[in-house]
Amino acid sequence: MQLFDAVVPAAGVGRRMGSTVPKQYLELLPGKCILELTLEKLLNYPAIHQVIVALSADDKLFSTLSISKHPRLYTVTGGAERADSVLCGLKATQTKWVLVHDAARPLISTADLDALTQACLAEDCGGILALRSVDTLKLSTASQTIARTVPREQIWRAQTPQCFKREQLLQALTQASAQGLKVTDEASALEVMGMPCQLVPGSALNFKITTPEDLLLAKAILSYGS
Ligand code: CTP
Ligand code: MG
Repeated sequence: MQLFDAVVPAAGVGRRMGSTVPKQYLELLPGKCILELTLEKLLNYPAIHQVIVALSADDKLFSTLSISKHPRLYTVTGGAERADSVLCGLKATQTKWVLVHDAARPLISTADLDALTQACLAEDCGGILALRSVDTLKLSTASQTIARTVPREQIWRAQTPQCFKREQLLQALTQASAQGLKVTDEASALEVMGMPCQLVPGSALNFKITTPEDLLLAKAILSYGS
C-alpha cells in the first residue's frame, strides 16, 4: 500500500470565528475539539504514515490534548501565513506523496480520502478535493451592485485534503514564497508554476469551519450522525 504523510496547518488565529481561543481548539463533541477530531480522522486512515501538525509559536493548548501523545503525530512551528505553516510541515515529511489538510475540516470522510488518493495515484498527478459551484455566481462592482453573472460551469470550490508528490509541492511552495506570492492553498502554488493538478469531486460535508454558523452546522451534523 502507498503510504502518505499528512501535513495539518493549525497555526491560525481564527479571526473570522471571533472566539477567545483559536477556532481549532473550540469544542465540537463533548470533550473533543475541532483539531482533535481532524487529527483522529487522519491517524485512523490506514494509508497515513504520520501526521505533522503546524502550530503557532505561542501555542499553549496543543500539549493539553490527549492526542498530542500519539506515536505517529509530530509538531512543527508554523508561520505567518497558511502557506508558511504548510511549508514548515512539509519539510518534516518523508513519503513520496503527501496530503495537506486544514485543521478546520474535521468532517473529512474515508470516502473522500479514498477518492482523492486513488485519483492521484491512478493518474500519477497531484489533485485536490473540490465541489462544483451550485449557486448562480455574481461578480460585484466596487459599490456592491451586480456587474454581471459569471458562468458557473467551470467554477469549482477548492477543499482539502490536497495531495501532491512531496518534491513537487516543496518546489512550488518554496518558489511561491521566494516570489512573495500569496497562495491560499497548495494547488495555487502549483498553478503559478504551470504544474498540473486534478479536481476530484468531494463532499459538501467536508466544509471548513470558519464562522460561528459553520461551528453550529458541524455540531448539528455530528449529533445527527451519532
Ligand atoms: N493556518 C496556519 N497558519 C497560518 C494561518 C492559517 O496553519 N498562519 C491554518 C489554520 O489554522 C486553518 C487552516 O490554515 O487550519 C485554514 O485557514 P483558515 O480557515 O483561514 O484559518 P484561520 O486563518 O485561523 O482563520 P481566519 O482566516 O478567519 O483568521
Ligand atoms: Mg486564514
